[in-house]
Amino acid sequence: MNGDYLEVVDEEALQRRICELGAAISEDYAELNPVLVGVLKGCVPFLADLIRCIDIPHEVDFLLLTRFGSKGRVGVAMDTAISLEGRHVILVEDIVDTGLTLSTLLRNLSVRNPSSIKTVALLDKVPRRIVDVPLAYRGFEIGDEFLLGYGLDWEGRYRNLPSLWVVMDMERLSDLHETFPAVALGDGEFRLR
Ligand code: IMP
Ligand code: MG
Repeated sequence: MNGDYLEVVDEEALQRRICELGAAISEDYAELNPVLVGVLKGCVPFLADLIRCIDIPHEVDFLLLTRFGSKGRVGVAMDTAISLEGRHVILVEDIVDTGLTLSTLLRNLSVRNPSSIKTVALLDKVPRRIVDVPLAYRGFEIGDEFLLGYGLDWEGRYRNLPSLWVVMDMERLSDLHETFPAVALGDGEFRLR
């Protein structure tokens, strides 16, 4: 037992909820051949699981964003390969926090004349919102904790964890990195559940 970190959404709950989102998207976009645009890098596990719960024709593409400058301006570091003009676009986000990234992205993509743009986010960090952004589909509403795993990183690490974890004291994370991944990957001795 360890009070430093806690699994907040386990693998089973993640898969169950993601398949509900996939079913809703399949129903809403049945005849529309949507393009799911994953926002790298955090979207990777979510997108991979989501498309396996979508049973209508669709395409997949990706965007990689960069943040630069003291105000954290958002730029496009790697753009989609598919043209979005006239397409029904579904942005796939791991988490929406302040909403600044998503609002910039929606503005950037809307000038490409897609037929529609909606967003699916696995996690909606409601209390942190600064800009009001529309979320057509969302997996879980969460509070103001810093989460790790299932695509979410801390300094590029821990995206590989199969479920979502909260770290109680972020300042201690650099001390915990010896045991934390082992716990989160299911090392029997430390397993919380
Ligand atoms: P926003 O522009 O504030 O909405 O920022 C969203 C981005 O912040 C996400 O795409 C993540 O990269 C990062 N982020 C926000 N909250 C968390 C978290 O709890 N864990 C890991 N990354 C986070
Ligand atoms: Mg992201």
